[in-house]
Amino acid sequence: MTVPLRILLLEDSENDADLIKECLRADRFIFELIRAETRAEFLAALETQKIDLILSDHKLPSFDGFSALKLAQSMCPDLPFIFVSGTLGEDLAVEALKIGATDYVLKTRLSRLGPSAGRALREAEERAERKKAEEALRKMHADLAHATRVAILGELTATIAHEVNQPLAAVVSSGNACLRWLASEPPNIENAKQSVDRIIRDAHRASEVIGRVRSLAKKTPPEKQWLNINDAVRETLSLTRMEAAEHGASLRSQLSDDVPPVWADRIEVQQVILNLIINGIEAISAEGNERRDVLVTTKKDKPDDILLTVCDTGTGLDPAKLEHIFDAFYSTKREGMGLGLAVSRSIIEAHGGRLWASQNEPHGAIFQFTLPIARKEAP
Ligand SMILES: Nc1ncnc2c1ncn2[C@@H]1O[C@H](COP(=O)(O)OP(=O)(O)OP(=O)(O)O)[C@@H](O)[C@H]1O
Ligand SMILES: [Mg+2]
Repeated sequence: MTVPLRILLLEDSENDADLIKECLRADRFIFELIRAETRAEFLAALETQKIDLILSDHKLPSFDGFSALKLAQSMCPDLPFIFVSGTLGEDLAVEALKIGATDYVLKTRLSRLGPSAGRALREAEERAERKKAEEALRKMHADLAHATRVAILGELTATIAHEVNQPLAAVVSSGNACLRWLASEPPNIENAKQSVDRIIRDAHRASEVIGRVRSLAKKTPPEKQWLNINDAVRETLSLTRMEAAEHGASLRSQLSDDVPPVWADRIEVQQVILNLIINGIEAISAEGNERRDVLVTTKKDKPDDILLTVCDTGTGLDPAKLEHIFDAFYSTKREGMGLGLAVSRSIIEAHGGRLWASQNEPHGAIFQFTLPIARKEAP
């Protein structure tokens, strides 16, 4: 059974309303017409009914089509809106289309109404489907980013355990010291106090590491905020330091002080930095090089970008494979998923930046990405 269309008609003339109905019927539309004459009736219909199409006169005794269009746009921006008017001059018609009306039909040429309404409804349906597909794609992207992030955290468990253990061990030794200061004769309250301060500081350090890991593991929809890229690098370095040491790589950073904040999702950007650093460390461990460096630098890249570079002295990149490394599931590692770079590139591009690779001299690889310094999107 066909579900009838719900058409909201803003029209004060009974006669014209009948003509419009007849015209739509003649074009085989199956519909239910809800007629409104005033702002209150129009608003009530939009609020309480699921409307598919609005047909609106230009001038009514207490309301007008332009105000109705603005109201409809603010409440249901995707709803097609066609002016059906006897008086709409050419200038007004152009103005109506400019501010978002789908079409206009003159009452003297009502035969155009059926085709115009048909087209408007088709386009609205296509728009809705496109939106749904985009939404599904966005969700898939977020799910994939999350899954690969969790996988990387799995690889880093030894590092994370170490990062938490270190301050905890310090807490225990400061606790013991504190007891000793208190037991001494006379008790040294000042030194005991300093030990307690250290306990508090180290406990905070441990809980910060856990907080960082938790926020990377959490599944939250991307949320942009003002991000200082240097802070993101520092946090990521603290999670990868042990991993680097285990692979005999030295992990260094040169972070420029004049990088402006970017409008970005902190977790996703950290994920990219994490992927690039781990790739660098893995490339180094595969090589018997003398120099075993991974260097992360940030700087402002004139005029509108910031530039982050991860530079290593590892195996380097095969020039013929330079673009393939960004393909999903391309991996030369025994246990690699081949998703790190693909996900990283899609994250950076979703932020309006670029991610690319080149050779380091005399050997190794350079990965760089830009992020635009916020212009349009930021609040
Ligand atoms: N710094 C690098 N030096 C040399 N080759 C690299 C470097 N980074 C990436 N590659 C190459 O690109 C491939 C793809 O990297 P990508 O990070 O996408 O996947 P992966 O590291 O193999 O697996 P995972 O999905 O677990 O990260 C790697 O297998 C490697 O061949
Ligand atoms: Mg990788």
